[in-house]
Amino acid sequence: MIGLRKGVTRLGARRIDSLLFGKCQAHRFLSNSSKDLHRQKTILKSSFGGLAASLLGASLLSYYMFNAKSSVHEYVFGPLLRNIMDAETAHHFVVKLMSYGLFPRLFEGIKDEDKVLGVKLFNNQKYLEIPIGMAAGLDKNAEAIDALFNIGFSYVEVGSITPLPQPGNPQPRFFRIPNDRSVINRYGFNSDGHWSVLSNLRIRVEKFLTKFNGNVTAPNSFEDGKILAVNLGKNKHGDEINDYKLGVSRFGPYADVLVINVSSPNTPGLRNLQKKEKLLSLLDAVVEERNNIKLSENPLNKGKSGQLPPIVVKIAPDLTESEIKSIAETVNESKIDGIIISNTTISRPTVYNSPEDPIFKEAGGLSGVPLKPISLKALRTFAKYNKDPKLTIIGCGGISTGQDAIEFAKAGASFVQVYTGFAYTGPNLVNRIAEEIKDELKKEGKTWEQIVGADLKK
Ligand SMILES: Cc1cc2nc3c(=O)[nH]c(=O)nc-3n(C[C@H](O)[C@H](O)[C@H](O)COP(=O)(O)O)c2cc1C
Repeated sequence: MIGLRKGVTRLGARRIDSLLFGKCQAHRFLSNSSKDLHRQKTILKSSFGGLAASLLGASLLSYYMFNAKSSVHEYVFGPLLRNIMDAETAHHFVVKLMSYGLFPRLFEGIKDEDKVLGVKLFNNQKYLEIPIGMAAGLDKNAEAIDALFNIGFSYVEVGSITPLPQPGNPQPRFFRIPNDRSVINRYGFNSDGHWSVLSNLRIRVEKFLTKFNGNVTAPNSFEDGKILAVNLGKNKHGDEINDYKLGVSRFGPYADVLVINVSSPNTPGLRNLQKKEKLLSLLDAVVEERNNIKLSENPLNKGKSGQLPPIVVKIAPDLTESEIKSIAETVNESKIDGIIISNTTISRPTVYNSPEDPIFKEAGGLSGVPLKPISLKALRTFAKYNKDPKLTIIGCGGISTGQDAIEFAKAGASFVQVYTGFAYTGPNLVNRIAEEIKDELKKEGKTWEQIVGADLKK
């Protein structure tokens, strides 16, 4: 037995040697007859040919699999994932793939030869090259930032993050409604907490700086024309003001924009923070805290003057006209820089599904296609009462096409965010929306900036 194994091992070793050591091969060729030499050359050629063909095939396949534009993601992997995993498992799975860099990307980025998509924000303090962002809630713990930038988002919002880690609501808490391309979620701010998420952001910065030996000037997104936003929440039993202040001082140095989320429907009492007195005290407190942020805590800002992050508040779509008017007055009175309209809805709008479907009885916030008319209406109402032309308005809710994005822009949104549309369409969504926006703009002979707020000027 041992002898046999030795014989096999010797044989195997000789074959490996002959493959590895070209010299031995050459020596053997020289001592062969010319017929043998010809035969061996042919074998060698065909095996090299086979190897080259397999390498080419493998590279083409991996190019296809990792190309965000490939339709396999939307038509094969997406539906497959929805078939084999429940919504929450699929969510965690995709974020993990992204965190390991195993996610498709747009190899050539988004093409904007005529420079029609760019937009200045926050009173010209910031610039976005593509007016499409990833909304909060997908990357709650800042693990997938660069994967999201790599599929074309110019703006990535991580969070919501709570000061202390908390598990959120019991499962199941995330439900798909595929016919309506919508979902209901009641995650309830499941968060790894400030310190854990902050450490993810710090590690990302350290890795980036190492590449450049520390000699680099960049925003937290790492690229001009892109924005990294951090969305702040409060713990279930946390303090209505202090939880946000802590978020501002801790994440301020690592964020290009800070978002104050007072509109998740899944944290009891949170939406009450949208009421006039409470909202004004909160916004005043966070602006004061923002003005004291120590930018130098982030090694990216060492030795540079840096820019304090603008503050943005995110509101619900389920508000009456007078409530939205009151929010507009409060926001105008405060010194914040922008507003996101909107979060998910607690109402149950449907498109194709029957409202009798038991899924609509699930508590939580609904997002996706049926939310669009509600969030767009809320945005229009806000724009009607807003008296500050420098305030940046951000549209969100049911956006999945270029046409949707343009409607929000004309209503007053400087850029838009998506979440549920991405969950259903996959990595090609941003590129597709951008192409559709460009086509529409071409027809109108305008740039994105020229259509922002166009409906308000009528
Ligand atoms: C699963 C899920 C989790 C979300 N979590 C958050 C969150 O933590 N913080 C937040 O501000 N918004 C959160 N949102 C709301 C989205 O950011 C967005 O406002 C909403 O989904 C509407 O956009 P959409 O129709 O494009 O999805 C979440 C949405 C979904 C679907």
